[in-house]
Amino acid sequence: MSAFVGVTSFAQISEIKSSVDRVEGKVDSVLQKMTLEEKIGQMVQYNGSWDLTGPASDKGNKEKEERIKKGMVGSMLNVLSVEATEQAQRLNMENSRMKIPMMFGYDVIHGYKTIFPVPLAETSSWDLEAMEESARIAALESAADGVNWTFSPMIDVSRDARWGRIMEGSGEDPFLTSKVGEAKIRGYQGEDLSDPKTIAATAKHFAGYGFVEGGKDYNSGNIGIRELHNFILPPFKAAAKAGAATFMNSFNTIDGIPATASEYLQRDILKGDWNWDGFVVSDWGSIAELIPHGIAKDKTDAARIAVKAGSDMDMEGGTYESGLKSLVENGTINESLLDDAVRRILRVKFKMGLFDDPYRYSDAGLASEISTEDHLKTARDIARKSIVLLKNEQQLLPLKGDENIAIIGPLADDKDTPIGNWRAQGEKNSAVSVIEGFKNSDFSGTMRFEKGVTLGKGERSFLMPLEIEKEDRSGISAAVEIAKNADKVILVLGEDAFQTGEGRSQADVSLAGLQKELMEKVFEVNKNIILVLINGRPIEINWAAENIPAIVEAWQLGSESGNAIADVLLGKYNPSGKLPVSFPRNSGQEPLYYNHLNTGRPSNPQHVTYSHYTDVEDGPLYPFGFGLSYTSFEYGKPGISSANLTEDGTLTVKVSVTNTGAVKGKEVVQLYVKDLVAKIARPIKELKGFELVELEAGESKEISFEISSEMLQFYDGENWIAEPGEFEAMVGTNSAEVQSIKFELK
Ligand code: NOJ
Repeated sequence: MSAFVGVTSFAQISEIKSSVDRVEGKVDSVLQKMTLEEKIGQMVQYNGSWDLTGPASDKGNKEKEERIKKGMVGSMLNVLSVEATEQAQRLNMENSRMKIPMMFGYDVIHGYKTIFPVPLAETSSWDLEAMEESARIAALESAADGVNWTFSPMIDVSRDARWGRIMEGSGEDPFLTSKVGEAKIRGYQGEDLSDPKTIAATAKHFAGYGFVEGGKDYNSGNIGIRELHNFILPPFKAAAKAGAATFMNSFNTIDGIPATASEYLQRDILKGDWNWDGFVVSDWGSIAELIPHGIAKDKTDAARIAVKAGSDMDMEGGTYESGLKSLVENGTINESLLDDAVRRILRVKFKMGLFDDPYRYSDAGLASEISTEDHLKTARDIARKSIVLLKNEQQLLPLKGDENIAIIGPLADDKDTPIGNWRAQGEKNSAVSVIEGFKNSDFSGTMRFEKGVTLGKGERSFLMPLEIEKEDRSGISAAVEIAKNADKVILVLGEDAFQTGEGRSQADVSLAGLQKELMEKVFEVNKNIILVLINGRPIEINWAAENIPAIVEAWQLGSESGNAIADVLLGKYNPSGKLPVSFPRNSGQEPLYYNHLNTGRPSNPQHVTYSHYTDVEDGPLYPFGFGLSYTSFEYGKPGISSANLTEDGTLTVKVSVTNTGAVKGKEVVQLYVKDLVAKIARPIKELKGFELVELEAGESKEISFEISSEMLQFYDGENWIAEPGEFEAMVGTNSAEVQSIKFELK
């Protein structure tokens, strides 16, 4: 929620200014009355241990209660339900001296009770309105359960399919990630943060977490300053501008400095250059982790480093409560550092209306306003918009609806995996499975099901490692048997819900366990296979792409997964999703991304002396922005309003798009730009615009993109500049199939 959203008149501007002044006045008057201990208390966040998402602290609940009573806790996470949050708030409000309300945070990542597609999947819809709507619903359901703050959106650009948390973000592109982040913040926070149907958002993880070396979670990031500014920070800048109430810092180092200890990131950039007035919460224990990182000798030292760097609230690290008092008293740090942090925390609490009514999120009646049915309807709609059709030969799809089909695979009847990781209060086994989706549909053919193999076994939970079945082949022959007599086989493979998410990086992103073996055995008896993938990261499917005629990337789609998949397979919904991340031919190509720099040796296939691997074809299997439809689209030749762009002017690139097929469909028209010669090496292309357009069969539309010099700016190591010279504008259906047109920035 930006303070300036929708402002049209001078009167409105002055009203906003005076409301800002009012908040600042209130913040100051509270701050002045606070003791040092109370200030430190505001900077402490405790886990409620109701829903553990990391190593537990050694503090018992009794001790936590005592500290809450003394007003020594600024916020809690994982305390759920109107009753529990109200109870905790009462403990604080009825006993503490200053009566400063607590905030209640939770990881509401892709829905609260109604579960939407995992963020990487949802981004595949490129439908910003839909993504805003799912965030609005998630906010409403959370607020109705006493939660008033989500640790979302995750806007870490990631180019590495090996990184388990790639499922939580919007993929490899900074522009698309920025747009999704803004939509999510609008959805969570609405127009007014004090509306008890909205919740505060968190832009995370600041910064560089998606760039961890080798895609290994919590690892170091060796990120150059230009890379940081040009690829990692833009979504965060957009989130700050969009008014994200809070930021969360990250576990990784950047060039030797843990992000949590980075004054450059938190003070110079976020609170300085961007002038952002919210507060930074640490990631879980990330301040205490400065000790194993080897830059702090103990908790007190860690507190000193983090508070100086601008980390305002310590999530379960126990460093601020134990260390800050002595650091101030012995003069190591100035109390003004604490004042700055507390002022930021109080400001957010005022904006949330908590000082007016600390129990505004304790409205048990709000739940009755929730229509589960409506929310599920929206979830189904977003789920089908998120599906990406990767291949469709011999017109295997859409199904006619009366075939004799065999549904095979470990995920076909799985009601849990589509819920994905970071599932908040999404219930175990609550998704509609593919089998159920078909049963719910008007499919009138015959359907037989065999699992073939199992994927994940044993305990499947947030914290415990997942065991993959690698031995038991006993179900394969039954699966082959039903495939033999089927007109078509729907093979449902992919990743278990607990194969992606925090701490679930993989060195190999091919189909796990016995899935590939099953696919090959089925293929031996029936080639009419439609491969439906249910997964949270790009996976290596080279063999399938070569051999299987139809491939549908269905991702982990949430509560309504099976219905959405049936809608697409049966042609009730014409697929329109596009990949927000490149699919590799081989895990060894990772990190893989379209907006890379040219090397000095981009190509010379006659000799080996160019930049490539000798054992894998260059480039992605499926590129960023790729996705097919049941119809076809033809692009006209792009036109440009002028060959020259002035520094303060704009020019327009136009292209006509025609639906040349027989059915209505949606296309994401994409605009890329390339700076041909610059003082630093620039990407071979960068997404700068997109439009989701729906066309009737035979219909054409002209799509226009405006280009300004600001869109051409890059960070050269010191400044953001747009250099005069030649540029290429490219429009097309995906990052690899574009038509270009040149212009010059004067
Ligand atoms: C650690 C994760 O990195 C972060 O994203 C999450 O919000 C916190 N745990 C709280 O659960």
